[in-house]
Amino acid sequence: MRKKIVAGNWKMNTTVPEGVELAKAVVELSGKADESVQLIVAAPFTHLCPLAEVLKGTRVALSAENCADKEKGAYTGEVSAAMLASAGCGYTILGHSERRQYYGETDAKLVEKTRLALANGLKVILCVGENLEEREAGKHFDVVEAQIKNVLFNFSAEELKEIVIAYEPVWAIGTGKTATAEQAQEIHAFIRKTVAAKFGAQAAEDTSILYGGSCKPSNAAELFACPDIDGGLIGGAALKAEDFIAIACSY
Ligand code: 13P
Repeated sequence: MRKKIVAGNWKMNTTVPEGVELAKAVVELSGKADESVQLIVAAPFTHLCPLAEVLKGTRVALSAENCADKEKGAYTGEVSAAMLASAGCGYTILGHSERRQYYGETDAKLVEKTRLALANGLKVILCVGENLEEREAGKHFDVVEAQIKNVLFNFSAEELKEIVIAYEPVWAIGTGKTATAEQAQEIHAFIRKTVAAKFGAQAAEDTSILYGGSCKPSNAAELFACPDIDGGLIGGAALKAEDFIAIACSY
């Protein structure tokens, strides 16, 4: 049975003390969400050690937002998967569209990053999604299929168990414009079918596929009710503990 997951991606927001307060507030409210929902917060590198302390022994897991595509060594400014694991992370987001768009993240680099994350015991939240131009040209299925094939298909069915897919249409991120439940369900089902073609129906059934893009308390229930949507990757609304937990309570 695949997991329901509600993950907050804080992006480049909050100072360390603000992040600690936010995490404490999330923990405090976390009991409101159904036990079956895995809660995750993904925070900037600077926040991870203090947040690991706050989240220790709670139901809220800790995630990074990225990791290096190299194991270790002379790569100034990079943070390795081993470092993230040693800081107390259980997960890392990889391939977020903001990293693809602004920091030259390629599918080839994502294969390396995913490999290193898994080798160091991290679970991966792998992001895919098309931009507005691609959606309007009707290319969204092709774009997402290529992203899945180029990255995910390099791994085994065993490794797939440690990977969560997040579908985030770029046109819906931070825009207030959410994909409709029909649009989201359609492409989530397509992603599951793509995964099934390579890894088998059962492996695809067991893979959590999250929706991300202007997900908020007012629209989460409709999205989460879709059969192939297994939760959300939440940006802006994750910066308020009440909203983040309200989204998790939409299950
Ligand atoms: P918003 O929820 O702010 O649209 O961001 C979504 C996102 O990018 C999560 O990774």
